[in-house]
Amino acid sequence: MSHPSEPPRITPLALAEATPPALDTAALERVRRQPLQHRHSAAELQWRSGLVKLLNDALATELVCVLRYKRHHYTAHGLASPRIAEEFAVHAAEEMTHADRLARRIVQLGGEPDFAPETLLQRSHAPYDASAELNTMIRVNLVAERVAVESYSQLVRVVGDRDPSTRRLLEDLLADEQRHAEELQGWLAL
Ligand SMILES: [Fe+2]
Ligand SMILES: [Fe+2]
Repeated sequence: MSHPSEPPRITPLALAEATPPALDTAALERVRRQPLQHRHSAAELQWRSGLVKLLNDALATELVCVLRYKRHHYTAHGLASPRIAEEFAVHAAEEMTHADRLARRIVQLGGEPDFAPETLLQRSHAPYDASAELNTMIRVNLVAERVAVESYSQLVRVVGDRDPSTRRLLEDLLADEQRHAEELQGWLAL
């Protein structure tokens, strides 16, 4: 007999009826039997080369962003906010790591990273800028970061589940660009 002050008994979940987690053993077997020299289909090769082209456009964008932030870093030094000038240099370095990671992935996909300077601006999603005024620099960079956020968001959707490694890379870059945009938005309000 239960005491009146005793808490009500909780019926345990019907654990015996729940399906235990399990791997798809048939899929594992298919992988074991796969030939080691995988031949990509024509459709797969076409998709990859399209992806390499899009990654090369992203690479061009990153390189133009490096150049724009470098220009702003050196010319903003004499202006009111040396702290923001220093942050432009930090952004430039981060965009350069983005460029490096994109170039490495392009090679891993069997493509060629395009660093050709004569076509950089045509291929870049964001413009170069040589403004002399700090507030204009911040605005131009904010627009460029928003464009980068939009283009990486689109790329993540384009890649979907077809290439998890590229997708993870793009999601990393997207997170950095979102942070850059938030920082610039904050400086605009100063
Ligand atoms: Fe970037
Ligand atoms: Fe950025």
